[in-house]
Amino acid sequence: MSEAGLAGPYRALVVGARGAIGGAFIEALAADPDCADVIGWSRGPTPAANAAKVTMRDGVELTNEASVAAAAAELPTELDLVLVASGALHGAGIQPEKSYRALEAANMAAIFAANAIGPALVAKHSLGRLPRGRRSVWAALSARVGSIGDNRLGGWHSYRASKAALNMMLRCWAIELARTAPQAVLVGLHPGTVASALSAPFQGNVAAEKLFTPAQSARFLLDALAARAPADSGGVFDWAGTPIAP
Ligand SMILES: NC(=O)c1ccc[n+]([C@@H]2O[C@H](COP(=O)([O-])OP(=O)(O)OC[C@H]3O[C@@H](n4cnc5c(N)ncnc54)[C@H](OP(=O)(O)O)[C@@H]3O)[C@@H](O)[C@H]2O)c1
Repeated sequence: MSEAGLAGPYRALVVGARGAIGGAFIEALAADPDCADVIGWSRGPTPAANAAKVTMRDGVELTNEASVAAAAAELPTELDLVLVASGALHGAGIQPEKSYRALEAANMAAIFAANAIGPALVAKHSLGRLPRGRRSVWAALSARVGSIGDNRLGGWHSYRASKAALNMMLRCWAIELARTAPQAVLVGLHPGTVASALSAPFQGNVAAEKLFTPAQSARFLLDALAARAPADSGGVFDWAGTPIAP
């Protein structure tokens, strides 16, 4: 079986190609003989593609629809696999909030834009490319902390809320997509705690065996996707394939 349970030859788009998990997705797909093409979108310059089947498209700012639309216009008519691996937890002058007292409108807007609006624009410009008559997979990296039911610790208000917003949109897109592409799988994914720039400031309390490398996480996530059926669409699953409560 090919990656994500797809039949070969298949075409893939990875968004957030310069990120840790996005880069690992590209490496895994490039190594799959059934994968015909991998297109990687990234905001900044990416390292040169190391396989002939990989095409890197730089300069895609996900919060700017004109930028997303321009990159989407270069996509093939059909895509079998879309993996949205972009997102932000912190940034210049932005730290996850520990209290409602720390909420700042501009910082909230930036985190919502990265985690909810960016994937929404990717959805707008890619869902119509999923084939109608065969299996396809569209997945976005969410986070377990986006679960309202699972929130016992509080904190990280903007990140949690932006991922919850993403999860709600995933459910909306899944309902809509089922009408035109009934064999499509559309889900959110929690990658585990993964060594990356995003998690680097928060790895202190994570046991070594619970901190995945990006390659490990990408492997687990592709296997979790392979086990998903269209009936799973609209849900969020962790790296082991276990559903996460809304
Ligand atoms: N690492 C973890 O432990 C963990 C846990 C749970 C969920 N996640 C989720 O997994 C996903 C990937 O995280 P990661 O650990 O691989 O982090 P990462 O290495 O920081 O990658 C995130 C990527 O998203 C890109 N990005 C952010 N905002 C963007 C924008 N507006 N336009 C275009 N690209 C943008 C970044 O681009 P630049 O390179 O240009 O900054 C970066 O390449 C995120 O959605 C994150 O929330 C990660």
